[in-house]
Amino acid sequence: MVIKKIKSSISGVFGYVPDYVLTNKELEKLVNTTDEWIVTRTGIKERRILKGNLQGTSVIGIKCVNGLLEKTNTDAKEIDLIICATVTPDMAFPSTANLISNEVGATNSYSFDISAACSGFLYALTTASQFIEAGTHKKVIVVGADKMSSIVNYEDRKNCVLFGDGGGAVLLEPSIDDTGIQDYILKSDGSGGSMLCLKAGGSKKPASIETINNKEHFIYQEGSSVFKFAVTKMADVSEEIMLNNNLNSDKIAYLIPHQANKRIIDATANRMGIGPEKVLLNIEKYGNTTAGTIPLCFWDFEKLFKKGDNLILAAFGGGFTWGSIYLKWSYNS
Ligand code: UT7
Repeated sequence: MVIKKIKSSISGVFGYVPDYVLTNKELEKLVNTTDEWIVTRTGIKERRILKGNLQGTSVIGIKCVNGLLEKTNTDAKEIDLIICATVTPDMAFPSTANLISNEVGATNSYSFDISAACSGFLYALTTASQFIEAGTHKKVIVVGADKMSSIVNYEDRKNCVLFGDGGGAVLLEPSIDDTGIQDYILKSDGSGGSMLCLKAGGSKKPASIETINNKEHFIYQEGSSVFKFAVTKMADVSEEIMLNNNLNSDKIAYLIPHQANKRIIDATANRMGIGPEKVLLNIEKYGNTTAGTIPLCFWDFEKLFKKGDNLILAAFGGGFTWGSIYLKWSYNS
């Protein structure tokens, strides 16, 4: 008897970005930069900012999950588990997933956050898929969302041009055919931790007058070093997943890369031998929304996907963390 392994497939997506558009022109007034520098070095033209008091990442997550439930005709009480990938939780605890779960009325679910920076959505999607594949969970929601503006120093031109706020959510269910997540590779290397981090506010260095004066509650990044790792590692892992699954560029419908820098994305696509027509980009509109970039790509480009399309997801981020997922899309929009 052949025992068929259950696969997990995405059965719906929803995304949300706040209304406020922070353009490169506006940034030119805040720091010594130019639209030309930002566009040629990163590919970013504008990003969204969540304005208003007491508006945390959960606000983004709640919009995404409510939209997803409505779109997929799902009752919140049917949800078994909600996982939220974020590095900008509303609070250290409770988890942002707990807050989202409560607000959307997912009273039969449990929930937790995953912290893997820009690879967070890939880590969370892979984690969620294990619960589906084990046969113990039927409906799992994965949220990737960040309010990066809460940790960006708008006097630091090296970082403030890169990041934005936003996110997306997907519903994961057992696959009824052979579509869904086929394979994944996840990696991490903590030796890169000090190159991209938030230095204070955790248990090692709690908030103090000194940490505030030293601006240690803002993103610290050694940009060009991180860039070199990102280019190599994101391309390595994308090539590896192609090789492991006998895929060539003709067999791949789209590459959905983390949107940190268009030059990193181009390098990854080049190594995979994939032409620009198959590389999904929305970095010009949203910048780097950290855990939000890949689900926001699903949301923006959902109509392009056809059932059975081979998609490769790839990301690199703080930690360092990186990874790639190979999935077969499960529905026609
Ligand atoms: O998503 C998580 C992982 N993070 C990433 O993937 C980000 C990886 N890093 C990058 O994307 C790029 O390194 C950056 C976009 C952050 C920077 O681009 P770069 O080509 O590596 O520039 P750089 O840091 O080597 O800086 C080149 C010059 C410097 O001036 P000098 O020292 O040559 O005079 C910077 O001070 O560009 C200057 N610079 C700027 N100039 C105008 C840095 N930021 C700006 C700016 N506007 N916003």
